[in-house]
Amino acid sequence: MLAQAADNEKGLKRTLGAGHLVALGIGAIIGAGLFVRTAAASAEAAGPAVTMSFVVAAIACAFAGLCYAEFSAMIPISGSAYTYAYATMGELAAWIIGWSLVLEYALGAATVSIAWSEYLNNLLGMKIPFQWCHSPFEHVNLLYHKVFKNGVMFVSDDVLKALPAAVKGMVVTTHGLINLPALFILLALTLLLIKGTQESAFINAIIVFLKVAIVLLFIFLGWHYIKPENHTPYLIPANASGHGGMFQHGWGGVLGGAAIVFFAFIGFDAVSTAAQEAKNPKRDMPIGILGSLIVCTILYVLFSYVLTGIANWQEFADPSKGKEASVAYAIKTYMPHYASWMPTMVTIAILAGFSSVILVMLMGQSRVFYSMANDGLLPKAFSDLHPKFRTPYKANWILFAFVGSFAAFIPGSIAGDLTSIGTLFAFMLVCAGVIIMRKTDPDHPRPFRTPLVPLFPILGIGICFLMIISLPLNTQLSALGWMLFGLVIYFSYSKSRSKLNLPS
Ligand code: ALA
Repeated sequence: MLAQAADNEKGLKRTLGAGHLVALGIGAIIGAGLFVRTAAASAEAAGPAVTMSFVVAAIACAFAGLCYAEFSAMIPISGSAYTYAYATMGELAAWIIGWSLVLEYALGAATVSIAWSEYLNNLLGMKIPFQWCHSPFEHVNLLYHKVFKNGVMFVSDDVLKALPAAVKGMVVTTHGLINLPALFILLALTLLLIKGTQESAFINAIIVFLKVAIVLLFIFLGWHYIKPENHTPYLIPANASGHGGMFQHGWGGVLGGAAIVFFAFIGFDAVSTAAQEAKNPKRDMPIGILGSLIVCTILYVLFSYVLTGIANWQEFADPSKGKEASVAYAIKTYMPHYASWMPTMVTIAILAGFSSVILVMLMGQSRVFYSMANDGLLPKAFSDLHPKFRTPYKANWILFAFVGSFAAFIPGSIAGDLTSIGTLFAFMLVCAGVIIMRKTDPDHPRPFRTPLVPLFPILGIGICFLMIISLPLNTQLSALGWMLFGLVIYFSYSKSRSKLNLPS
C-alpha cells in the first residue's frame, strides 16, 4: 500500500497547509446535522441540553479523530477507514468496515438530500405538495377552518384520536409518496461528479465562508432574542409527555441527543483522505482533523444554545411549527426585525452548504467502492472509468440508484440514525485498529502518534458504543440486518473473487 502511495505521490502535489485542511474539514462537516438535527435532538431527547449532547459527541469524535490522525499520517492512501482496516485487521474486517462506510457515506448523502428538500420547500413558501416531498412513511393531519391562522391547523395523531367524530371528519390526512426534490439534487450532483467538474478550491472556500458566516450571524443576532424561560428546565423532566424512555429525558436524553447530533460531526474523517496532498502531514493532519473538530464544536454549542433559547424545544416536534427548516422557522417567528430578509438568505446559504456536503459524501463513497473493487471485493464495474471524463461513472450511477431510493422513500430521521450507527461502528473499528497495529507492527514509522494508547482508543470505543445503544431499537436492528446482508455477500461472492485469493 505504501509503495502504491509513493507512486501516487509523483502525481499529487503537496499543496495543502494546516489552514486549508481545517477549511476542508469545515466544508465537509457543517450541514444537516447542525441545521436539521439540532432541533430534532432537542425535541426528541435532550431539550435545551442539546448543547451538552454536542459536547459528548465531540469527545467521542476527538478520540476517534486522534486515531484517524495516526493512521492517516501512517497510511496516507485514499479509501480512509476501509484502507486502514485492510492494512491492520485483514480482509474480512476491511469488508465489514467498508460495508458500514456505505451506511456513513451513502445514507449520509441521502439524509442531507432529504434535508435539502425540506429547506427548498421552505424557500418556496411550502408550495411543493406534501406527498411529493416526503417518504411514504410520513403523513400529516391538517384541519382546515378559517378560524385558524392561515386557515389551517396541524393536528397530532394523539389529538386526532381524541377529537369528536364531527371534527375528525374535517381533518385531511396526507401521506407522502416520494421525495422528488431530494432525488433532483442527487441527480444534479451525480452528473457533476461524472463530468468530473472538480469543486474548485475557490467555490469550496466561498461555501465554507458562507456557512460559517451564517452560523456566526445567527449566534450574534439571535443572542438578544434568547428567552431564559425556554432554557428552564435545562434537561427534559422525566414526566414530560412522550419522553418516558431512558434516552428521552434527563441525562439519558443528553446521551440520546448526542447520538442524534453525532451526525453533525461526520465528515471530519474526510480530511484524512487528503493526507497525500498535505505539505507536512506529520504536523498538519492532526491539526486539520482536530482543528476542524474544535472549531465546529464551539460553533455548534453556541448555535444550539441560541436556537433553543429563541424557540422552545417543544416547537421542534410540531410539523406546523419548527419541525422542518427549524432555523428559518425560529427567525421568522421570533426575530421580527430580521424576518424579512434573513430567513431567505440563511436558507440559500444552507442549500449551498448541503450541496457541498452531499458532493463530498458521494465522492467519498465512490472512492471506497473504487478501493473495494480494486481489491476484488466488488464487481469490476465499480472501478471502471469513463473513457472521456476518467471518473468511475458506473459506480456513480449505481450509487445514485441506491442513495436515491433511500432519499425518495425513507424519512430523514431514519436515514440519519442509520448513518450515525454506520459511522460510530467504523470509528470503533478504527480505534481498535490503532491498538492492534501498535501490537502487530510496533516499529513502523508513525509520524503522528495517538496519545495514551490504549486508553484513548478504548475511551473512543466506549463512548461510541454508548451512543449506538442509545439509538432506537429499530435502527439498531436495521443496521444489524445490513451488516448480516453484507456478510452473506462477502462469503458468497467477494471472498472467492478477492485479489488476495487469486493466484497472481
Ligand atoms: N456533518 C455533515 C452534516 O451535518 C454530514 O450534514
